[in-house]
Amino acid sequence: MIETCFLEGRGDLSEWRDAARTFLQAGIEPKAIDWRLRSEEQGLFGAEPVSSKAEVAPTRLAANNPAPLSVPAAFLRLASALVCHSDPGRFALLYRLFFRLQAERHLLDLKTDADVALAHRMQKSIGRDYHKMTAFVRFKEIPLPPGVAGRRRFLAWFEPDHFIVARVAPFFQRRFNDMDWIIATPRGSASWDGQTLLTSTKPAEKPDITDETDELWRTYYASIFNPARLKVKMMMTEMPKKYWKNLPEAELIPSLIAGAEAKLIDMGRRQATEPLPFHHRLQEAAARMPDAPIVEAGTIEALRHEASGCTRCDLHCRATQTVFGEGPANAKVMIVGEQPGDQEDLAGRPFVGPAGRVFDEALALAGLERQALYVTNAVKHFKYEPRGKRRIHQRPNAGEVEHCRWWLNREIDLVKPKLVVAMGAAALFSLTDRKDRLENVRSRPIVMDDTRTLFVTVHLSYLLRIPDKVRRDEELARFRDDIRQIGRLAS
Ligand code: URA
Repeated sequence: MIETCFLEGRGDLSEWRDAARTFLQAGIEPKAIDWRLRSEEQGLFGAEPVSSKAEVAPTRLAANNPAPLSVPAAFLRLASALVCHSDPGRFALLYRLFFRLQAERHLLDLKTDADVALAHRMQKSIGRDYHKMTAFVRFKEIPLPPGVAGRRRFLAWFEPDHFIVARVAPFFQRRFNDMDWIIATPRGSASWDGQTLLTSTKPAEKPDITDETDELWRTYYASIFNPARLKVKMMMTEMPKKYWKNLPEAELIPSLIAGAEAKLIDMGRRQATEPLPFHHRLQEAAARMPDAPIVEAGTIEALRHEASGCTRCDLHCRATQTVFGEGPANAKVMIVGEQPGDQEDLAGRPFVGPAGRVFDEALALAGLERQALYVTNAVKHFKYEPRGKRRIHQRPNAGEVEHCRWWLNREIDLVKPKLVVAMGAAALFSLTDRKDRLENVRSRPIVMDDTRTLFVTVHLSYLLRIPDKVRRDEELARFRDDIRQIGRLAS
């Protein structure tokens, strides 16, 4: 007698596992089961409900008096991948392995066994699909309605070969933790709103989402394309044609290949004098974006507004917002930190997180008012690495500091402070273009020009990261002395 089992078959291991357990405990042989997809059945016979449960006569179950089932952990890993495969034969294959494993405990080690080899090929194909999805999803920003504040929202469309959406979704949650997003695919969707990761197996329709980031992708791709390294076959394996229709940069590929030889000759000619690091082109493209400031702002408020759309370097892509300086537009003292941290990024204000609290305490001890100071940072966007749900601070590199110096110089021009305080090496580099050791320049006034004095102290987050309490307290005391000195210099 043939048992028929209907499954949804959209990547959920538990539905196959429940059915397979029932069949195995009833002693039913692989060839006696007809695994079917519920969707196919509905396609043939209309929308009649079809049971997904394995229905085996209770008498047969009892007759076989089942022993507890067990399988190696490697099989569970294999099965959780294989149920995502789009091959209709996956359930039968899995059941054959499951059935045989009861007697052949080391079956999975037999790489030449036809079932095992097929299962490994299918598992590889799932791995490839997963990798392609992580590499080729292209998010498009969906602007918030005018006047509505909130997290940035993004939408992406992707066409995976297999039912891998729920499997890949946690990767995107980790990688794009700080923004709201939806990834829609014909094999289900996933969404993240900062709290909850949702997945659905319902097929989605392709949305119409072309925007100006397409152009940025093309510029980026053209600039990293290296004709000297062109290997067409390898390139087509890495980026197979079936993905091209959803990749804005793919339309460049034929012309880049065609022009590779000429470009190579040209590169050879220019090599000695003109290096072409891709960042320059990317940033030129970013600077061409409509939000880039065109006219220099005449007031701090106008400058703040311009900076809110800054795309001078690519840190803006991941940060929540620009964190601009704040304080009186004619403050005598300007404090320059390194860059906003996690809390500053969310609040849109400098020095409001743990480092800000240390700063406020030191000011209070020195009898200084924070409201009298103009407080800003060398870099105006938060740079971080997502790790789980946390965003780990990363130091800005010299290029990022140099790009952001444009804003700091405008702030200094407008506020005209008598005393500028550099907190840490990034601020010092931004203000002086020098990479001095902090200890060599720290804790004393340095004349910058007729109108301005520079004072260098440590980066507050550095203080907070000193693990040894005794050393931390010593450093904190030195920092408080620095702040007292700043008070004296400012008076
Ligand atoms: N918060 C800031 O805004 N800047 C720093 O340098 C450190 C914390």
